[in-house]
Amino acid sequence: MDLGLAGRSVVVTGASRGIGRAIAAGFAAEGARVLLCARGAETLASTAMILRTAYPGATVETVAADVTDADQAATVIATAVERFGGVDVLVNNAGATVRDGSVEERWRASFDLNVISALRMMELAKRHLAASGHGAVVNISSIYGREAGGPPQYNGSKAAQIAMSKAYALEWAGLGIRVNNVAPGSIAFEGGSWGRRLKEDPEGMQAFIAQQIPGGRFGNPEEVAAAVVFLASDAASWVIGATLNVDGGQSRSNI
Ligand SMILES: NC(=O)c1ccc[n+]([C@@H]2O[C@H](COP(=O)([O-])OP(=O)(O)OC[C@H]3O[C@@H](n4cnc5c(N)ncnc54)[C@H](OP(=O)(O)O)[C@@H]3O)[C@@H](O)[C@H]2O)c1
Repeated sequence: MDLGLAGRSVVVTGASRGIGRAIAAGFAAEGARVLLCARGAETLASTAMILRTAYPGATVETVAADVTDADQAATVIATAVERFGGVDVLVNNAGATVRDGSVEERWRASFDLNVISALRMMELAKRHLAASGHGAVVNISSIYGREAGGPPQYNGSKAAQIAMSKAYALEWAGLGIRVNNVAPGSIAFEGGSWGRRLKEDPEGMQAFIAQQIPGGRFGNPEEVAAAVVFLASDAASWVIGATLNVDGGQSRSNI
């Protein structure tokens, strides 16, 4: 589908694998100029190569950076500005369940990665997004930011990420920057946590699906990417401050 994103400058964090890679591919398929960011340079480079081959009409660049490091985060936005002349779309996808350390350390690291790094990227990109005329931010949260579920530090930080995005959406609407969220349910892919559990315990996972996911299967990264690309496009021009579940009906939340 042509969503009018050709030539737009798009930054996707956590883009070397999984959901982030599918999001980057979704923008590349639209002919955008996409900057992929992740810490591991090798996987990043091979992902970029795959996308360039699959989408010759797109421009795909990479920057190896840890978004929890302020200097490296600044480098990501500076690289987009240097290579593409600005930033039209920012997708904060880098995120994880942090399980290491004491309870307090896990909570701090979860907030650092899932909340602070996203808002730092937003602040770094703010003036470029405002100058774009089409500025859009899509943050990748989780259905477990809307309701009970997942480890507490993940649940709490993803809830904060949703609240942070909503607050910024209202503040930045006047600047012409739309901020929205996508909240995936359980998304399975090779190398991902649900993909691994599917291999290790196929029967248990079928029981999980039967009990938890009305759609009857795990979601895939491309289904999340489709929602992200839509929200970043002018087709979603009147969508501001939304959190869109992509979860096969898995969420039980009324909000
Ligand atoms: N998979 C699911 O079922 C699911 C469900 C709901 C929400 N989500 C959310 O969706 C997002 C992506 O999940 P995923 O399952 O695709 O994750 P994943 O497979 O673990 O991939 C994470 C990506 O982020 C990068 N990354 C991790 N930490 C980073 C950092 N500090 N700085 C820069 N890049 C970093 C990773 O590359 P490097 O390790 O090389 O940095 C990788 O490219 C996360 O925010 C997650 O919470 C996932």
